[in-house]
Amino acid sequence: MRFNTALLAVTAAGTAVADRPANESICDYYTTALLKENNATNQYTLLTLLVNTAVIGNYTQPNVGVMVPGILNPNGTYNNTKVNLVPYFDGGLASTNDGGNMGVAKNFLDGGGAAPLMKNMPADDTTSNQYKLLTHLYQFFGSLLGCSEVGMTGFAAYAGDASMYEVHKFMVLDPLQMGYFIEQVALSAASFGVATSDIEAVGQALGSLFNYRCAPKTTVIKAQGPQYQSVCTDESCPLADNATCAAQPSMSQPLVANATLADGEGRMPSGSATMSMSGGSTGTATMSGGASGTASGASSPSSTFNAASHAAPGLTGVFAALVAFLAL
Ligand SMILES: *[C@@H]1O[C@H](CO)[C@@H](O)[C@H](O)[C@H]1NC(C)=O
Ligand SMILES: *[C@@H]1O[C@H](CO)[C@@H](O)[C@H](O)[C@H]1NC(C)=O
Ligand SMILES: *[C@@H]1O[C@H](CO)[C@@H](O)[C@H](O)[C@H]1NC(C)=O
Ligand SMILES: *[C@@H]1O[C@H](CO)[C@@H](O)[C@H](O)[C@H]1NC(C)=O
Ligand SMILES: *[C@@H]1O[C@H](CO)[C@@H](O)[C@H](O)[C@H]1NC(C)=O
Ligand SMILES: *[C@@H]1O[C@H](CO)[C@@H](O)[C@H](O)[C@H]1NC(C)=O
Ligand SMILES: *[C@@H]1O[C@H](CO)[C@@H](O)[C@H](O)[C@H]1NC(C)=O
Repeated sequence: MRFNTALLAVTAAGTAVADRPANESICDYYTTALLKENNATNQYTLLTLLVNTAVIGNYTQPNVGVMVPGILNPNGTYNNTKVNLVPYFDGGLASTNDGGNMGVAKNFLDGGGAAPLMKNMPADDTTSNQYKLLTHLYQFFGSLLGCSEVGMTGFAAYAGDASMYEVHKFMVLDPLQMGYFIEQVALSAASFGVATSDIEAVGQALGSLFNYRCAPKTTVIKAQGPQYQSVCTDESCPLADNATCAAQPSMSQPLVANATLADGEGRMPSGSATMSMSGGSTGTATMSGGASGTASGASSPSSTFNAASHAAPGLTGVFAALVAFLAL
């Protein structure tokens, strides 16, 4: 919390925004602008503020007057369509890649939820799923945003799963869900006084990296080399140039693991309840092998299956958006 005073003083005074020199990364420039000394500790703090605000909404007092609804807001909207990414984070959907060839549910809010984030921490502990997710986000986005001190004491380099496609493939996110996620990152940056031109650059970088289906391998973390990074994998996502869909098959929408928590997102297990889906309901993790996947069933009749019609479930989007943000 010690950085807050300096940060808020600067942002309140409106001095954070200025012309960033072309030879300075977004991370380094705004660390200096907001926290003065450009070292590993302060760069990590900047990423903590940025990510935590994107995830839970604006919590610092004051900011420059930008409201950030937050990725974990169940009442999100994008393009006038409701988006609720919460079930991807709270274990409501079987959407993580921890289960081999099928998605499994996992609670990523097991380290105290929003409370520690509001204290500029990733979690209450260092062993929870929440701690791992948040610190990975700080690290991944730190690299994306060009933090010069990544890898130094105080800012460990990202060493998690190398492929964002693999991390997010069972989430089956759609363009509205991706749009909401990236918008929260942009709003978070704006709330700290980041210049519009820099926000647009980050948004474009994130969009080109994550928002296309079947995109060829791209390097984000140098030490990890080129990797499949597509996070938008729903059928409604635009197809990348030089698409490599055989390597990045689309999956069925994630199964509901806990209907209360799922809150209407995802797909009910076949045979249960009132589902009457046509094509897409066969099995968990059905691989389509090509660009035309199983997701076509997603928009068919079932009322529990609202994901395809608006923002797809996208907790992995958190990861993705954060990553992309840092990439510049
Ligand atoms: C950026 O360029 C300016 C002017 O050429 C130079 O003074 C400064 O040291 C450079 N900064 C970095 C981080 O290379
Ligand atoms: C970075 O600078 C801050 C003061 O702004 C200081 O508290 C911190 O210890 C420094 N970190 C490193 C790694 O030197
Ligand atoms: C978020 O930002 C808005 C706009 O500045 C402000 O009205 C609101 O009080 C902030 N919320 C919190 C929790 O700081
Ligand atoms: C979301 O909307 C519901 C219904 O209007 C409301 O009860 C709930 O408090 C809202 N939640 C948040 C976090 O805004
Ligand atoms: C949002 O709406 C605009 C205007 O209708 C449209 O051009 C754009 O494609 C939409 N974006 C998404 C992700 O649906
Ligand atoms: C697609 O592949 C062709 C041939 O390898 C290459 O010239 C072109 O630059 C690629 N396009 C993109 C967007 O990567
Ligand atoms: C679903 O989640 C709710 C809220 O956490 C919990 O109370 C309930 O026991 C869960 N249901 C099942 C079947 O696990």
